[in-house]
Amino acid sequence: MGFLSDTLARVKPSPTIAMTGRVAELRAEGKDIIGLSAGEPDFDTPSHIRDAAKAAIDAGHTRYTPVDGIAPLKQAICQKFARDNDLDYTPQQVSVGTGGKQILYNALMATLNPGDEVIIPAPYWVSYPDMVLLAGGKPVPVPCGADQDFRLTPEALAAAITPRTKWLMLNSPSNPSGTAYDRAAMQALTDVLLDHPHVRVMADDMYEHLVFGDFEFVTPAQVEPRLKDRTLTVNGVSKAYAMTGWRIGYGAGPQQLIRAMAMVQSQSTSNPSSISQHAALAALNGPQDYIAESRAAFQRRRDLVVAGLNDCPGIDCPTPQGAFYVYPSIRGLIGLTSAGGTVIADDEAFANALLEETGVAVVFGAAFGLSPHFRISYATSDEELTDAIARIKRFCEGCS
Ligand SMILES: Cc1ncc(COP(=O)(O)O)c(C=O)c1O
Repeated sequence: MGFLSDTLARVKPSPTIAMTGRVAELRAEGKDIIGLSAGEPDFDTPSHIRDAAKAAIDAGHTRYTPVDGIAPLKQAICQKFARDNDLDYTPQQVSVGTGGKQILYNALMATLNPGDEVIIPAPYWVSYPDMVLLAGGKPVPVPCGADQDFRLTPEALAAAITPRTKWLMLNSPSNPSGTAYDRAAMQALTDVLLDHPHVRVMADDMYEHLVFGDFEFVTPAQVEPRLKDRTLTVNGVSKAYAMTGWRIGYGAGPQQLIRAMAMVQSQSTSNPSSISQHAALAALNGPQDYIAESRAAFQRRRDLVVAGLNDCPGIDCPTPQGAFYVYPSIRGLIGLTSAGGTVIADDEAFANALLEETGVAVVFGAAFGLSPHFRISYATSDEELTDAIARIKRFCEGCS
């Protein structure tokens, strides 16, 4: 009998975290590396939030809290949903966890039976399929190519639904593509779901505030109130307030689900950090200026990166509506050989050769379930981005 569980054999480590680790190793060897693989804002957490955390320590908020969040934070989350999303939730319908990641994981653990299917539009956030597998379910990826702007169509959703479908995981704006669903595109999906009452929606709104131009963010339960009772609306402070290390995420949904999720959490991690909860409270209730400032910076960087990449031979980069990622195609480079002698057989070979030959770290598309692409996180300085684009261009020009 083996030591490690059979469940573990089905999952793989996060490729994005692996790439970030490789970048750290190469830097430690003294190499000049530009890391465009990490999914976190490069800004500092705003000072009023940091101050609230220090004050929380001094006020003695250093003990266990209720498992799924302190009452004032749940209240602030309800106000946030009312303010930003026209959604009316009570504190009993809200759960706070150690990052949005734990909220998603709790929900899957609380609801999946062996063989239950979860529809995941691809390209997807790397963790979705592995979380579903850990929880005993069956991920059902649905390819959503660049020709459809990486967006799930109502036809493809309807075709993927079976009697075993339990959840649709929908992430808008998307990691890795940056694609977001406007009201019409979202309504087309919620219309399909109305016809299938056994399917629930996990709406991952983590990048809600990072939408550009006049794009209006919407979430499924807001667009179709009749779906609210079978929707878990997930969000967090990581990307909205540059708080990735604080580990606070939250979800709102039907009380039965929220209670079950709290049970899972009570037997694993208990409450998220008490100090971080007070910081999140300050983030949600305090001044919101950071959101607009970071949005403006990310929009400028998106434009810089999209224009620069479209100037690279063999690369085709669509313009995303949100998040801080682009997901260009490298179809035009497949089969060519790099100046360093690597055959670009697929997007993994491309990302490895790019790192070895130019020092630019990106994540290959196969990790997100849709090839031949790669993901750039442009949550880094304009200077680094400009340097990275110049290196990528030289790399592409050297391919023959
Ligand atoms: C699409 C998506 N959902 C959820 C998360 C989880 O964020 P956190 O656990 O930091 O709240 C991330 C983080 O990268 C993400 O990209």
